[in-house]
Amino acid sequence: MSAVSPESRPQRVLLGVSGGIAAYKTPDLVRRLVERGAEVQVVMTPGALEFVTAHTFQAVSGRPVRTDLWDSAAEAAMGHIELARWADAVVIAPATADFIARLAHGLADDLLSTLCLATSAPITLAPAMNRLMWSNPATQSNVRLLESRGIALLGPAVGEQACGETGAGRMMEPREIADTVLSRQSLAGAMSGLKVVVTAGPTRERIDPVRFLSNRSSGKMGYAVAAAARDAGAKVVLVSGPVNIPPPPGTTVVNVETAEQMLDAVRSHVIGADIFIAAAAVSDYKAAQPSSKKIKKTQDALSIALARTPDVLGTVARSDNRPFLVGFAAETEDVERNALAKMESKRLEMIAANRVGDGLGFDQDDNALTVYWQGGKQELALTSKADLARQLIGVVAKRYAERAAVGEPRDPVTRVGN
Ligand code: CTP
Repeated sequence: MSAVSPESRPQRVLLGVSGGIAAYKTPDLVRRLVERGAEVQVVMTPGALEFVTAHTFQAVSGRPVRTDLWDSAAEAAMGHIELARWADAVVIAPATADFIARLAHGLADDLLSTLCLATSAPITLAPAMNRLMWSNPATQSNVRLLESRGIALLGPAVGEQACGETGAGRMMEPREIADTVLSRQSLAGAMSGLKVVVTAGPTRERIDPVRFLSNRSSGKMGYAVAAAARDAGAKVVLVSGPVNIPPPPGTTVVNVETAEQMLDAVRSHVIGADIFIAAAAVSDYKAAQPSSKKIKKTQDALSIALARTPDVLGTVARSDNRPFLVGFAAETEDVERNALAKMESKRLEMIAANRVGDGLGFDQDDNALTVYWQGGKQELALTSKADLARQLIGVVAKRYAERAAVGEPRDPVTRVGN
């Protein structure tokens, strides 16, 4: 991956280092960003200087490190407001509990916090701290406040900590931070001005007041797709079945439970949409006659009659003024053949297929996909769902733009004359 900004110059990353032991990993992050073609300006807090020297960062970034708001020689070369404008992206790694608190409260008592207030570039935090400091309600509330303002979080990861404890609070690995930040930046503007509707998660179909039919979908992929479309500049509506993950900030989330409710929500929000991405694992069946009372175990065997639920994606595909349609196919065998058949029968512009079963796909943090469209395909190798979603959005945006450029009709079946 080469880190080239929309203006065809290297991406400029302002890398803030605050004072935590994980700062010993940050020179590696600088090296990886530089390796991928980015220009990196390091800014250290006084606390960070207690862990790593500025010389180390100067050597790996190839630029003098900034540490002080009151350094008149450095300010004369590039003032702090100029530096805030210079950045395409601001990354704070590690972000300590103290730095997160200062950022949440808008303090500007050192160079790095001042730059964060003065920049219009997207800010990403890679928190690192003891697990109890991370789970403390004060830190959690600061983090939620920052997320609601559009600041992105990478991690923290779960694992062994420098203090000898184990839990959430480790800084995410430098390679993952570098990949995520640069791929996010390269998406910027790819979907600006577009409205994108995404479905995610499972649906629940009632059997009786305490039981339901559902599936193992966690919603992680659909949520990551919604966040990536938002990062690409789209206005995103996320229609979600019941999941246990936080809503992606900056998107409109509509919570539903059943396939019918999902269809109703999608029908009203798809009006005026440019792209519809169906990542939900919709229950194909529901109880034909849900019981109003709890079913008692009075018989040795029990049969429940099932009826089909509506096909959300299929219904949108048959509607007038349909948007550009992207479906998902989770297959246990014959992935390519089944996915292509699904794309054809559902009249989709694209389909993202993956193999499931044997621990693959559902409820995992990593996944791989193959994306198909008429006359083309692209493999997206195994990586985190967040990274995969960004790559998928990149492919969708490209294909959408190519099709719009040649003025192809919306329904691919009309195009091939069926
Ligand atoms: N889908 C939908 N509404 C449904 C069923 C599926 O919107 N009632 C969407 C999914 O979100 C996904 C695609 O359709 O994008 C999956 O197609 P489908 O043929 O329904 O997949 P499966 O349910 O896996 O089909 P099968 O069981 O026949 O393999």
